[in-house]
Formats: sequence, C-alpha cells, structure tokens
Amino acid sequence: MIVPDNNCNKCDLCRWRTNIVLPCGDLRSKVVLVGEAPGESEDFRGIPFVGKSGQILDNAMAAAGLKRSDVMITNTVKCRPPKNRDPTDEEMSVCRQFLNSELKHCSMVVGLGKLAIMDLIGYEGSIWKIVNKKMKVVVEGEEKIFLPTYHPMSCVYRKESEVKLIEAMTIVKEFMER
Ligand code: URA
Repeated sequence: MIVPDNNCNKCDLCRWRTNIVLPCGDLRSKVVLVGEAPGESEDFRGIPFVGKSGQILDNAMAAAGLKRSDVMITNTVKCRPPKNRDPTDEEMSVCRQFLNSELKHCSMVVGLGKLAIMDLIGYEGSIWKIVNKKMKVVVEGEEKIFLPTYHPMSCVYRKESEVKLIEAMTIVKEFMER
C-alpha cells in the first residue's frame, strides 16, 4: 500500500490538517468501505470514522453482524477539508493514487455517500436511484464489485437512509461469508 508521507503537500488540505487519516480495520479485508473526507474527530485522532458518523456506521455494521475490524475503512482524501467542506475534484484526484493502492487487494468497494460514489464511478445523479445496487468498478485494470450506499451522516435526518445503510452492511456480511 502506498501512503502519503508525513509532510505530504500534494494539495492545499495539508495547510489545515492535524493528522493524515490513513485506513483502519483489516487492511487485507476483501471489502473496503470508502467515506468522503475526515472530519474534526478523525483529523484529531488520525483514524477514519471515529466521530458521530463513525458511531452511526458502527451501529449499522453491528446491526448486520459486522465489526469495524472485519473490513478496511478509508476515505477519498486523507486530510480534513477546512470547516468540513466537500473535498474538491482536484483534491480527490491527487489523493486517488493512495486510494487506488488501498483497493488493490479487495474485491468489493462500498461507496459511502455522494462524493465517494462520484470519485469511484463518476456518478453524479441521485443516490436513491442506485442505492445498494451492485455494479462493477475497474481500479487500475482490476474489476471489483461496487456497492453505492448512503453516507452515515444522512441517517441523522432520514430513517430510510439508516435502513439502506444497514441493508448495505448486510450485503457486505453475506459477501464476506461466501
Ligand atoms: N465522514 C467521512 O466521510 N469520513 C470520515 O472519516 C468521517 C466522517
């Protein structure tokens, strides 16, 4: 796996970060969950999904019988955008080499939310049209299953998103048991 070095300055996000947020969980898992960008808690601790969104994700995983340590968890960009704004296309594209290297070993990629889905398959439409529908994604010449689903934070406002996120984690669980 290629990781950014401690003083990576490939994009402007380096100006605001406290820590680079590298993948966590089972780094050799056949399933990788990809979020959007680190938030405040993640920037502080250097670990993906450890704040409010992390709690929601952990609960959805638990409801499906999964633990964080069963999968790899990462983000499109490894540094927190200021004021939690969306990462730009340019920031995602310069960080993509790291994400690609994280995805090398896996056979299923789960895109959590709009920006992860956009980065991975270039889809910019409404998520409800494709949520939890298995597709194909080719990463550096290797074909993988791609599962687009809602970002954990969208579950705060919409019960339907929570139901779909748990359903996605159930699909992951079944895939892991195969
Ligand atoms: N939201 C994300 O998309 N990723 C994190 O790591 C935390 C919050």
